[in-house]
Amino acid sequence: MTKAIMGTVEHVLETLHLASDDAVPVTPPTSKKLQALKEKYIKAKQEHVFAFYDSLSVSEQAALYEQLSGFDPERINTITEHALNSTKPKDDKEKALESGLEPLPESATASILDSAPQDITKWFEAGLDLIAENKVGVVLMAGGQGTRLGSSDPKGCFNIGLPSEKSLFQIQAERIRKVESLAHKKSGKEDVVVPWYVMTSGPTRESTEKYFKENSYFGLKEENIIIFEQGVLPCISNEGKILLESKGRVAVAPDGNGGIYQALVTSSVMKDMRKRGIQHIHAYCVDNCLVKVADPVFIGFAASKDVDIATKVVRKRSAKESVGLILLKNGKPDVVEYSEIDAATAEAKDPKYQDVLKFRAANIVNHYYSFRFLQTIPQWADKLPHHVARKKIPYVDTEKGTIVKAEKPNGIKLEQFVFDVFPTLELNKFACLEVRREDEFSPLKNAKGTGEDDQDTSKRDIMQQGKRWLEAAGATVTSESDDSGIEVSPLMSYGGEGLEKLNGGTVRAPAVLEKVAKNDG
Ligand code: UD1
Repeated sequence: MTKAIMGTVEHVLETLHLASDDAVPVTPPTSKKLQALKEKYIKAKQEHVFAFYDSLSVSEQAALYEQLSGFDPERINTITEHALNSTKPKDDKEKALESGLEPLPESATASILDSAPQDITKWFEAGLDLIAENKVGVVLMAGGQGTRLGSSDPKGCFNIGLPSEKSLFQIQAERIRKVESLAHKKSGKEDVVVPWYVMTSGPTRESTEKYFKENSYFGLKEENIIIFEQGVLPCISNEGKILLESKGRVAVAPDGNGGIYQALVTSSVMKDMRKRGIQHIHAYCVDNCLVKVADPVFIGFAASKDVDIATKVVRKRSAKESVGLILLKNGKPDVVEYSEIDAATAEAKDPKYQDVLKFRAANIVNHYYSFRFLQTIPQWADKLPHHVARKKIPYVDTEKGTIVKAEKPNGIKLEQFVFDVFPTLELNKFACLEVRREDEFSPLKNAKGTGEDDQDTSKRDIMQQGKRWLEAAGATVTSESDDSGIEVSPLMSYGGEGLEKLNGGTVRAPAVLEKVAKNDG
């Protein structure tokens, strides 16, 4: 793509999604500029957003003008209409498409569970070599608001109750340090760096930056942690109108984890990756305490297949589990989200093995991308669909000027999904790796006490993994209760390796094994 076209596309992306990196202006627009903007909103029948403009202070006027200039109201109307249409009851043609869903063919899949050990070792070694060559980067999606968790802090700051009291961010940072150190040991190369690109959003950016700083970047170098921000979109009423959160501000929400693609381009991330020579990218979600950040096996697997996207899956726990399903739709790789699947499809049994679900490849949002593929983002990012999340959104009544707190869902948030790019690929550029749930997936989704995917299950799964690792290394773990385990610091072991010294020893659970050496080796 030529620079000129690239520039235009980036501009389109910027006007669609307000980049909140922009400093808030203090000078209001000239009346000519204001009129031009008003006309755009009048044309789109969204002029009510100016209802209180004349009553605002000068700086509030400037801020509202700036915010509204960041959106294209006609485009907002179009994506709202498309998103709402896609939630309407399906017609016969659409139902027929749905019945055409198939599990991914074996040619596109591999499984850690039944792969030959030499294949796994080969992928691991290849992945570590790429890490040692500084060709691997990690992108963390941490822009979600964690509303189901009932906390307003970024999810990554959450202390899941481990004996060490480490937060999710700290666990992930230490895994990066450890994988860098493993690659250094294998190659003998100094300065092995896996840059960590952390995507935040308006509601999570400041607190994330502060948290990293306060914790001295968890031992990583500040220059190798790049915190960037995804875009936002206006919240829309059930009647299709842009909602105001106050008289001088539109209600906005992060544009979904699919906003990552625009954000990679409109922030400095793609440029930084290019400068560093990153070729292989691991992207993942903040809420999974077992995530193998920059997993050498996964990187080596995907790179050896020369695919553009790879994804990890685990076996779905039950038909009702809230996970997306990786499958084939119209001959293309795709994900059907749990909120969008009908019960019959979710519950269908595999015709070959009646005791397992037909669609069981649960999406754990661990993606591999080739840098080559990410370079094509400007060609398709604005074509990804938007999905509708119905919410209770407080808003200003533009006739009465009062703030209304909705008792039931009164509007929608528009979100792109990170996996909606999958169908743009041919099957030979896509691969799927099945991994062990107990080793790689334990998400934090629900408030404490739910008993499922909450902080207690996160803690349990880390402690149980540590116990398994110690036992595999030849140690005996004793405990008074079955549910206590061992927390093994990521600085000691990335995936169970390096614990041989404990062979023949006894460790009493619960316990935490922490590394005390000065460096991470
Ligand atoms: C997600 C997946 C689902 C998968 C499940 C596994 C999507 C759309 N759905 O569902 O298929 O089975 O995880 O746990 O990916 N995020 C942002 N910005 C946003 C919204 C979310 O960065 O605007 C991040 C969150 O911080 C989180 C991740 O995306 O790290 C997943 O978001 P969440 O809303 O928890 O997704 P789920 O509905 O659980």
